[in-house]
Amino acid sequence: MHLGINIDHIATLREARKENFPSIPQAARVALASGADSITIHLREDRRHIQDYDLKDLQFVEKLNLEIASEDDMIEIATQLAPWAVCIVPEKRQEITTEGGLNIVDRFERIRGHIDRLKTKPIIVSVFIEADKAQINAAKAAGANAIEIHTGAYARATEKTQELQKIKMGAEYAHSIGLKVHAGHGLDTQNVIAIAKIPQITELNIGFSIVANAIFIGLGPAIKQMKELLQTES
Ligand code: PXP
Repeated sequence: MHLGINIDHIATLREARKENFPSIPQAARVALASGADSITIHLREDRRHIQDYDLKDLQFVEKLNLEIASEDDMIEIATQLAPWAVCIVPEKRQEITTEGGLNIVDRFERIRGHIDRLKTKPIIVSVFIEADKAQINAAKAAGANAIEIHTGAYARATEKTQELQKIKMGAEYAHSIGLKVHAGHGLDTQNVIAIAKIPQITELNIGFSIVANAIFIGLGPAIKQMKELLQTES
């Protein structure tokens, strides 16, 4: 299981004071040294955490996964940067975090155009969607290499069986039509286990719970704990 560590919330802390610390490159180095297979950042349109200069500072990261909205200017930034991977995510200005998956069915031509533009560079393109068959088919038709299944509803649910079943079926279907399957959002050391056991899921992107845990045990140990858990459970 490939583990991507989302370091947005280290930038959230930095932006709370508009200081130049905690350092984002240092966070990436610690993450990579502690078992992260890639680094994920979300350059939001409102720049509430990650800033444009962070993209330059993170150029040493070979496997950088950049999350962006399906907007022309963001797609242009991502295409110019040409990171290892780009994940297209839905974005609403007022939301606290990414709520729900991208609606590719309704915005098909636009998203297909954006994927075409990204594919002018050797970028792995994924789309952050719900485990829904119509959205999975649209992701495939639009040219995505991978889907990232939004696990937020599963993570929040007290009774998780139904949400887990939906994710399992979505992962199986997406894999059967040739898409790589990733998952993320709201995952922590408790709820990640059932997700890690889904055989078609090959990559997880986890941020908030790890950064929260890092306050008490440190960033390196928090990442190592998650990595070890994934090695035993997946
Ligand atoms: N994957 C995607 C596409 C996301 O947008 C996010 C949240 O920014 C995550 C994974 C990580 O979610 P969390 O911070 O809740 O672990």
